[in-house]
Amino acid sequence: SRLKMFVDEVPEMPTIRGYRLVNGSYESATLTIGMYRKDWKFHRDLPPTSVFAYGTSQRTATVPGPTIEAIAGISTHMTWQNHLPSSHILPWDPTTPTAIPKNKKGIPTVVHLHGMIGGPESDGHAHSWFTNGFHQTGPTWTNETYHYPNVQHPGSLWYHDHAMGLTRVNLLAGLVGAYVIRDPKIEGGFGLPSGNEFHRRLVIFDRSFLTNGSIYMNSTGNNPHIHPEWQPEYFGDVIVVNGKAWPRMLVRRRKYRFTIINASNARFFRLYFKNGLRLIHVAADSAYLEKPVVATHTLLAPSEIIDFVVDFSTSKEESVLLKNDAPYPYPSGDPVNDANDVVMKFVIRRGEREPDPSSVPGTLIKYPTPELSTAVRSRYIALYEYTSAADEPTHLYINGKSFEDPVTEKPGVGTSEVWYVINLTDDNHPLHLHLGLFAVMEQTELMDLEEFRDCMNRLNDAERCHVEKYARGKKIEVLPHEKGWKNVYKMMPGFVTKILVRFSYIHSTLPYVFNATAEPGYVYHCHILDHEDNVMMRPLKLVASGG
Ligand code: C2O
Ligand code: CU
Repeated sequence: SRLKMFVDEVPEMPTIRGYRLVNGSYESATLTIGMYRKDWKFHRDLPPTSVFAYGTSQRTATVPGPTIEAIAGISTHMTWQNHLPSSHILPWDPTTPTAIPKNKKGIPTVVHLHGMIGGPESDGHAHSWFTNGFHQTGPTWTNETYHYPNVQHPGSLWYHDHAMGLTRVNLLAGLVGAYVIRDPKIEGGFGLPSGNEFHRRLVIFDRSFLTNGSIYMNSTGNNPHIHPEWQPEYFGDVIVVNGKAWPRMLVRRRKYRFTIINASNARFFRLYFKNGLRLIHVAADSAYLEKPVVATHTLLAPSEIIDFVVDFSTSKEESVLLKNDAPYPYPSGDPVNDANDVVMKFVIRRGEREPDPSSVPGTLIKYPTPELSTAVRSRYIALYEYTSAADEPTHLYINGKSFEDPVTEKPGVGTSEVWYVINLTDDNHPLHLHLGLFAVMEQTELMDLEEFRDCMNRLNDAERCHVEKYARGKKIEVLPHEKGWKNVYKMMPGFVTKILVRFSYIHSTLPYVFNATAEPGYVYHCHILDHEDNVMMRPLKLVASGG
């Protein structure tokens, strides 16, 4: 029997300050956050179940973890501690490249702060993992305490696990949380709905549960002879918001701001309000937009962040559903059903419109305009899927290379490059770059795709296969709310997507306080976690001058 919807109130996650206030001024802070196994109740009618959760103690740990609030220009030092038991609560697959401790005990973890512009030794590299008590560590592990310089523009980030081959199961178990960089000097003047009551952060993901409450993950791979447990995409039939299944939220008849992070493994959401309320986008991923953008629907791939204002005083109804109509896998999978097409319900307080001092300003933050002429070189990034004789996916690679193949992308610090991302598969892949920010220039359909695929399968070289000859189909407009600086974007199947990448920050007067060329470097990857783990991920090394 199906869980009853809208019975739990959407929780607000605890907030932790990544700074100290000393005599009225901000100073840097040192924090410790642990990963714990604990019991979590995802729904009123589900028994508590085992999860992995971030928190300052096992008692206070939550799914998602606490929201960390940093101040632009003020460093946060963070020790992430692993207090997890010796074995996992979910099935994982040793046949994909995976962090496996020498003594085979303990759960490798490493935390990546998604959207952070900082040094590689604090970036949560997939090989910098560690187990409980730092008992065992991965080959590139160096330090217990990370440094987050927060020297970028204000915006929304999130933290999550990134251990080699275990990212999909560690996130499924609950290792996700929100992080925000505030800049009171800039944001104070916006007048947007603010404070914990009127600006809410929602971390959404899909999960399946057994009737005993435990998180269900199919432990039989699609290709059991090759990968006994890996599947190309995890989908759950329950939509969870801030750790509760299909929750509800009581709201006043006024404006609210919502920052929504898609922490799903593989599910895209195309979000809309059932009664047509408009979403006034003010930011995307970690950057504000130049101007607010009004839309009725918005497509959110895994790891993307949307940030919008909605005015409940314009609703004629007393409650409104936040819905989803994205097929899964996206774009050509199953249509949504009457469970996964609903995210949550807003119940609007009866009566008149309430006094509302907040507003949506005409302009937000003006960033440097992406200039193609600043690019020092271009690269071709081809996305491949490989299948078994039975036509089931076996693994996915970027440019036909495994993660362990020598690094090929070595941009110079402070330079810009044009990347042509060529998607030869049938699915949309949200490509995420660490450190870099990029502007999406255009997406062009590849014609005679089978012929081009054949050539790529033979030569694995977009230049020699003359990609420009095939890139002559229809062009898809980049939507206005996605035209700013992004750190992840949806690469359409059968299209080449042209992006202009800046390594690294694009809007700051703050000094560069880290060494981007240090070891072990960064990574870029598909943010469908099941793809990232097997292994649609490549190293990215910054060098003093481009190479
Ligand atoms: Cu959100 Cu490399 O990850
Ligand atoms: Cu992918």
